[in-house]
Amino acid sequence: MLDGKRILLIVSGGIAAYKCPDLVRRLRERGCQVRCLLTRSGAEFVTALALQSVSEEKVYQELFSLTDENEMGHIRLSREADVILIAPATANIIAKMAHGQADDLATTTLLASDKPVIIAPAMNHRMWDHPATRHNLQTLTARGVQVIGPDQGAMACGEFGMGRMSEPLAIADALGQFFRHGLPLAGRRALVTSGPTFEAIDPVRFIGNRSSGKQGHAIARALAALGCETTLVSGPTRLADPPGVSVVAVESARQMLAACETALPVDIVVCAAAVADWRADQEQASKIKKTTGRKPPPLKLTENPDILALLAKPGKNRPALVIGFAAETDDVVANAIAKRQRKQCDWIIANDVSAATGTFTGDFNQVHLISADGIKDWPKMSKSAVGEMLGQHIVDHFSEAP
Ligand code: C5P
Repeated sequence: MLDGKRILLIVSGGIAAYKCPDLVRRLRERGCQVRCLLTRSGAEFVTALALQSVSEEKVYQELFSLTDENEMGHIRLSREADVILIAPATANIIAKMAHGQADDLATTTLLASDKPVIIAPAMNHRMWDHPATRHNLQTLTARGVQVIGPDQGAMACGEFGMGRMSEPLAIADALGQFFRHGLPLAGRRALVTSGPTFEAIDPVRFIGNRSSGKQGHAIARALAALGCETTLVSGPTRLADPPGVSVVAVESARQMLAACETALPVDIVVCAAAVADWRADQEQASKIKKTTGRKPPPLKLTENPDILALLAKPGKNRPALVIGFAAETDDVVANAIAKRQRKQCDWIIANDVSAATGTFTGDFNQVHLISADGIKDWPKMSKSAVGEMLGQHIVDHFSEAP
């Protein structure tokens, strides 16, 4: 699938650059022509000679080099490629791209290009989770830049977390997938629920909860960035609509269920909403008056429909992959395993929402992915990164499925 494809590989300055000669070899084994562009800081980690030897092509480094410009200017470099791959993509080059800077050969070439751009980020996990990096990545994915990885694991700095560059083989596979189908979830449809629900008691009062919607919105954003046609059914939140996602705003659980049913059929369902379990049995048409000296009025509750359980119910139109959340405060994993069985969903994402964790309203999450294959414990990371990692698992699921 990669036969004859021309890849412009931009190597920026991260320790993972040491894997680039191997990456070039993997791509060439698959029939690609690889031309390397090495940034000044990239050259601190891998030599031009090594890249030139494996690519059998001149390595481009300097924007103002007379010889480079004579032979191949930045405009031609970008035009004579089918795709631009940046590996490793540091937090710095990601930031420069997001802001349209052009202060060296790599960034000038990127700005002059209309070719698809794929990045394989590599950085310390705190840099990966930093709000500035999150924001820059959102800007890039909204522009259609595709992101491969990163992986989690031990880092060169001695810490552990998300931020290791994907392995050369995985990058070569992702490139093959890109040329086969474009974005990896192109042609698939997803439905994501997010946020709280508000259940009216009367025209001014409601039963609600503290869900911010950050996790559900991040998942919808990540799926859309992977090419999935995504509908986000959201309860009331303060969040902006994720780019490229069609958003349906609802208030109550029953409205959420109706909006979900309208969005069907889909391939993927992710129920991240904190749906109120109960609603007032009778919604009063007029405001209930407070009468001094009288007892408070009784509040009779009735159960809401379980949207996840209804969508996961076996049947011929059941979505191929149904994912639920289990927000727990005690026995997180055990409760989540039982919930996965009870609701018949394929995967469940369990997280601890005890007040001390700050998960419900905060920007970070520590989750466990529970499926028929077992339990995967993910490290603590930003909710955006959880969305991206889940997106990658969904891509892998569909690429492995027969
Ligand atoms: O039963 P519990 O609320 O703990 O289940 C959590 C999971 O079920 C979440 O995925 C949530 O979005 C979903 N859910 C739902 N409809 C409900 C209650 C929960 O979709 N009424």
